[in-house]
Amino acid sequence: MLKQGLFITFEGPEGSGKTTHSKLLCGFLRKKGFKVLHTREPGGTLISEKIRKILLDPKNKGMDVGCEMLLYMAARAQIVKEKILPGLEQRKIVVCDRFTDATLAYQGYAGGMDLKVIDNIAGIVTKGLKPDMTFLLDIDARLGLLRAGRAKDRMERKSILYHNKVRNGYLSIAKKDPKRVKVLSSTGEIGQVQKEIRKAALKICH
Ligand code: TMP
Repeated sequence: MLKQGLFITFEGPEGSGKTTHSKLLCGFLRKKGFKVLHTREPGGTLISEKIRKILLDPKNKGMDVGCEMLLYMAARAQIVKEKILPGLEQRKIVVCDRFTDATLAYQGYAGGMDLKVIDNIAGIVTKGLKPDMTFLLDIDARLGLLRAGRAKDRMERKSILYHNKVRNGYLSIAKKDPKRVKVLSSTGEIGQVQKEIRKAALKICH
């Protein structure tokens, strides 16, 4: 049992393999005897999954970036309250597929919303919660979109220019906070990438 909860997030452009890697890490940590909670954003609770549907529905292609940002934040407020904070209080390792960095990269760096405004709203909905460690799985935006496949959701349908800005936004976030954000190239062999993730995660699990 950990002395206190640990919050680990996975980030990256579309098709970067976050979901695969976050689930593999959770399985590994469970086998090591840790209590682990895996969840995702937007989603992870009944209300947040409903908001996810609105956000990703291609029929909502006219959505304003302000509306988009606030809906991601609304979904976040709910998952933080219902799942993430209780998990951390129970001294679990909470692994979340995306968190506030995604809003900075997508709605901020790519969507043009003020980064400070995003930071302030995130501070309110997360009650100041920050990940202990973030794995940024980096991939060329075009390659990632190809990997993500054909049935494209509203976000995946945005232009390649937008997705390049997302990728560069993530890399800027990592540059600003190198202690927390570990950048790994996602084009490498899955086993090798996962090995590095496990090694880094184990270092903070005590
Ligand atoms: P997913 O594909 O990782 O499940 O994420 C759903 C989409 O939502 C993905 O295109 C990234 C996007 N997203 C944002 O634009 N802002 C956010 O704050 C989050 C959490 C996700």
